[in-house]
Amino acid sequence: MNQLILGDCLEVLKRLESASVDLIYLDPPFFSKRNYEVIWGDEGEIRSFQDRWAGGIDHYIAWLKDRVQEMHRVLKPTGSLFLHCDWHANAYIRVLILDQIFGESNFRREIIWQRTNTHNDAKKKIPNVADTIFYYTKSETYTYYPIRGPHNEVYLAKVYKYQDAKGRFRLDNLANTRLRGYMYEYRGYKPPVNGWRCPLETMKRWDEEGLIHFPKHKTGRLAFKRYLETVKGVVMGNIWNDIQNVQAQAKERIGYPTQKPEALLERIIKMASNEGDTVLDPFVGGGTTVVVAERLNRRWLGIDQSVAAIKVSDLRLSQQRNKPGKENLQ
Ligand SMILES: C[S@@+](CC[C@H](N)C(=O)[O-])C[C@H]1O[C@@H](n2cnc3c(N)ncnc32)[C@H](O)[C@@H]1O
Repeated sequence: MNQLILGDCLEVLKRLESASVDLIYLDPPFFSKRNYEVIWGDEGEIRSFQDRWAGGIDHYIAWLKDRVQEMHRVLKPTGSLFLHCDWHANAYIRVLILDQIFGESNFRREIIWQRTNTHNDAKKKIPNVADTIFYYTKSETYTYYPIRGPHNEVYLAKVYKYQDAKGRFRLDNLANTRLRGYMYEYRGYKPPVNGWRCPLETMKRWDEEGLIHFPKHKTGRLAFKRYLETVKGVVMGNIWNDIQNVQAQAKERIGYPTQKPEALLERIIKMASNEGDTVLDPFVGGGTTVVVAERLNRRWLGIDQSVAAIKVSDLRLSQQRNKPGKENLQ
């Protein structure tokens, strides 16, 4: 493990042991017929490019299916696979490859990654701003950690309306809603009809920590100041619109259009694997997956049939290892 391997992933996968990998992310060349699909322009890549497009979509699907079949074999029974594609072939890939190999019941989710914004010049048709990532598991038992994202701004504006030196907060009711709460007067504020929802010691502690709101008038009701920073974000759904594509100025940019952002891989790896697990990327390109996997203490394997891709990935890995300070590694 922890190896970059040069070669057609079909051949390399055939040499791997069955049920040995926990997580696979693949970002194969899309069926888009665009020139930039030839990324590195070296012999291995150009040959594969010509092979794939010669026979149209059927050929592409057959080409990819052979490889996904091997990926399924090398996945552990608890393993997950994320296949990154776009509108050109996503319908075919889901129905003709993934449902057939993994089974419909192992389809977990279609993730929509918004990778760009609309541009003003799109007048004739709705601009496409998203890619698709199909998420399948090998069985019903798999690793999944919900990802928490930021709260919706509309909700925040409505609920977290207050601000002080410590930050943004909302006011939570301290009155007990059940019949018998704690009955005591606190700093001149009378208890509500059903009493407080916390005992006196807790009220004192919260007060010392600056978490109690005291209304101007003693007839007002004490409230609990719940600071936004102490509240977990909401669990992310399957529309990911908070990860920017690799920008022109980004430090991680290695300079080709299909490079995927590290934040995207970080989310997938954290969501579907544990430290020490093995992550495989059979179309590793510029090495995004393996760089992130190593930083997150996973074992990894990257395959690409382009010499340039393997060289760039290797360079990125060594640059990461040579960065001073652990802070850069997280
Ligand atoms: C879209 S790029 C991957 C980009 C990668 N996710 C990144 O962020 O850098 C696809 C890669 O697949 C490689 N490739 C194409 N056909 C292949 C094959 N049969 N086996 C292995 N790699 C292949 C290409 O050389 C290219 O580097």
